[in-house]
Amino acid sequence: MVEFDFSGFAGKNILVVGGAGFVGSNLVRMLLKLNTDLHITVVDNFMSAEPENLPQHPLLNVIIGSISEESVLSKINDVYQYIFHLATYHGNQSSIHDPLADHAHNTYTTLRLLNHIKDFENIIKLVYSSAGCSVAKKTFEDAEETTEDAPLEIRQDSPYSISKIIGEFYSVYFHKQHSVPTVRARFQNVYGPGEILGAGQWRGTPATIWRNVTPTFIYKSLKNMPMPLENEGIATRDFIFVEDICRGLMLCALRGEPGDVYNIGSGVETSIRLLAETINSITGNAAGIKLLPRRSWDTSGKRFASIAKSKEKLRFEAQVDLKTGLSITINWTQENLHFIEQTMHKHSAQLKYSIWL
Ligand SMILES: NC(=O)c1ccc[n+]([C@@H]2O[C@H](COP(=O)([O-])OP(=O)(O)OC[C@H]3O[C@@H](n4cnc5c(N)ncnc54)[C@H](O)[C@@H]3O)[C@@H](O)[C@H]2O)c1
Repeated sequence: MVEFDFSGFAGKNILVVGGAGFVGSNLVRMLLKLNTDLHITVVDNFMSAEPENLPQHPLLNVIIGSISEESVLSKINDVYQYIFHLATYHGNQSSIHDPLADHAHNTYTTLRLLNHIKDFENIIKLVYSSAGCSVAKKTFEDAEETTEDAPLEIRQDSPYSISKIIGEFYSVYFHKQHSVPTVRARFQNVYGPGEILGAGQWRGTPATIWRNVTPTFIYKSLKNMPMPLENEGIATRDFIFVEDICRGLMLCALRGEPGDVYNIGSGVETSIRLLAETINSITGNAAGIKLLPRRSWDTSGKRFASIAKSKEKLRFEAQVDLKTGLSITINWTQENLHFIEQTMHKHSAQLKYSIWL
């Protein structure tokens, strides 16, 4: 395991917007574990998070509310050296169901934050969490690795991915126009402990509960249910363990060039079928696989990131391989099953049919 030097955070004030979410809460825990004299402020409206995601800690201050509300922004003063902007309207399907809500919590949030801090003088780096899906080639043919300078597609699959790329446009603009030291981190598909099925408020579709492919598969596998495989599981993704993505974010903050962009991925292409089979083999689920049709909106079939630039410039490489990361995540899910099912069940009144099917 490579040892990274994170001493640059010592004594710093750090703002994590969207810090109660899956990635945000992991980042907060990791920063607090550094044992340096840092102070963290989280802003979160619990749209897709649970308060229990966050630890109680004397060095952590939580502001509850939306980053686009004046009453919240007025509490954000020029005292932060590092800002991580992780707030989003989770996720693709919620955004397709309600593009205006996506705009309010995904596009507008980024613009309000950047506009508010544009004249701050203490910021060393603002890291914006972008998404690899916004730039990946739309293909079900064999994928090539997506580099940071891949051509941008005007055709996007969802308001979510439009918002993520608009956030990149604003990050670049505020850097150029106002010298805000923005760094864009293009995430691949993150999985790991702390992704709570059903976290937060109902966002219009069962995707509120199921969130993402990995936690869905793990839950169903632990319940001895068949894995729901869309399009025979031929789609591919670049899966990265959450602790790795947090290390990548921290390195973007410490080593990233203002105005620049870095892929934070594993660089490994994994099919959804292989993901399902690996999870079933770890849990011993004999229920196998249930084939479903392809998701009509998803044209981004096969994709994975080029990691050459982040390796060279950030000296970042993912440390945790898929099987190890999945085993850790499965253990965490088992240990927290009661809480996870409580958050899933709080939405059951919204569903016309059973979520357990
Ligand atoms: N998880 C992934 O696989 C993945 C992949 C690509 C990009 N990303 C990006 O990484 C970031 C973190 O993702 P995540 O998986 O932790 O999602 P998440 O939904 O768990 O976290 C997002 C957080 O933002 C909060 N939020 C929503 N609206 C807000 C508002 N108006 N003001 C303040 N907070 C608000 C939510 O309550 C939640 O805590 C997001 O920006 C996401 O687009 C994630």
